[in-house]
Amino acid sequence: MKILFVCLGNICRSPTAEGVFRKLASESPLAGSVEVDSAGTVGFHAGDPPDPRSIEHAALRGVDLRGLRAREVIAADFNDFDHVIAMDERNVAHLKSICPARHIGKIKLLLAFADTCKLREVPDPYHGAAGDFELVLDVIEEGSRGLVNYLVDQQSVATAEHAEFAQSVKGHKGQYVRRYAFSRRVREDFRGDDRHRES
Ligand code: 4NP
Repeated sequence: MKILFVCLGNICRSPTAEGVFRKLASESPLAGSVEVDSAGTVGFHAGDPPDPRSIEHAALRGVDLRGLRAREVIAADFNDFDHVIAMDERNVAHLKSICPARHIGKIKLLLAFADTCKLREVPDPYHGAAGDFELVLDVIEEGSRGLVNYLVDQQSVATAEHAEFAQSVKGHKGQYVRRYAFSRRVREDFRGDDRHRES
């Protein structure tokens, strides 16, 4: 499973999301089965480390961003990554404009996964102050926690479906019908949840 976080410059929000999500995933059932990266929709800062303010505020929460380097999103990313997670609507619009149609469904807003956060987008802190960098961390933590939970659920559905399928192959027709009803229910549950729709 490969996740790419995307913002504008790849020096404030998306490297923060990369570091926070990596830490939360490593403490979850996803540990060892998820790869994380980040990129920017523009290449102004390509090769640069994260903004010193992002490094400093993340460090206060035990997240080390010092080794990260900025890069621009490339077309191959849509093939290489399973989920492309944007910080704001502008990033989503840019990503959709360069994404092959078959991969559009991979593009989602991070805060679509946040349970209680009132914001829909992670605000750009670049021209802001310390409080703005703290807010970025707060909402990124919440979105990342939701994304970890979503991926853990997806992983267990896949495992349960696989187990049911193995059983139905061995079993009779009735078991097969049960498995089909189960997978259809899961798909409908997902479709019914607006927040995870492509935006
Ligand atoms: P980011 O923040 O998209 O969260 O990395 C920004 C970084 C740099 C600029 C704008 C936003 N900039 O204009 O250089």
